Amino acid sequence: MNVSFRLLRFDPQRDAAAHWESYEVELEPTDRVLDGLEAIKGKVDGTLGLRRSCAHGICGSDAMVINGRNRLACKVLVKNVKQPVTIEPMRGFKVLKDFIVDMEGFFAKVRSIQPYLVEKSAAPEKERLQSPKERERFDDTTKCILCGACTTSCPSFWSNPDYVGPAAIVQAHRFLFDSRDEGKEERLKTLNAQEGVWRCRTIFNCVEACPRGINVTRAIAEVKQAILRGKVK
Ligand code: SF4
Ligand code: F3S
Ligand code: FES
Repeated sequence: MNVSFRLLRFDPQRDAAAHWESYEVELEPTDRVLDGLEAIKGKVDGTLGLRRSCAHGICGSDAMVINGRNRLACKVLVKNVKQPVTIEPMRGFKVLKDFIVDMEGFFAKVRSIQPYLVEKSAAPEKERLQSPKERERFDDTTKCILCGACTTSCPSFWSNPDYVGPAAIVQAHRFLFDSRDEGKEERLKTLNAQEGVWRCRTIFNCVEACPRGINVTRAIAEVKQAILRGKVK
């Protein structure tokens, strides 16, 4: 099938402003939007800028706005989207080139909440045990692939880029609710700060945007409750 695309292009070395360009490529109906972009880059215009790695919905590197919604290009079949397929970079991040955005600030926020298990007590002789029920408690947030689709769909983040954002809170949730973690106090303090969880106004765009189906808003609510109670449970 012939598939038409409208791409919002921007190369800071060449363009004064972003502008739309149209393309048409032949694809199989079962091809993904990512295949379409790679066909354009490979056969029509090699200057197109995009990120991808796994091509299977795991690495989180090809999040972009497809027909107005944040999606992973490798998870959307061309037969399931209206043509022309419009593609824009994620909103709220600086565009480096075409669909490649600057994610340095995003990852700095994730690092700020200590996205790892903190150990304070002496290591046990064997492993730190955890029951299946305790593991289940944070299962949903382990699915995050740090694609940024939630944070860049959030109006609170658009209006205040200093807001730590839903992705960092999801990462915090994954460790806060892990029974083996001993860094809860510092993490809750970071999230209770001015640009922390209270910037979330429960707008729910993040849930809609998440390609992993994580209930982002519920995770944020649980972190807010933990701050109010002064403990995680
Ligand atoms: Fe992406 Fe979902 Fe993780 Fe947000 S919570 S970064 S949308 S996988
Ligand atoms: Fe934003 Fe999601 Fe909260 S869209 S305001 S982080 S519920
Ligand atoms: Fe890895 Fe799409 S290329 S998630």
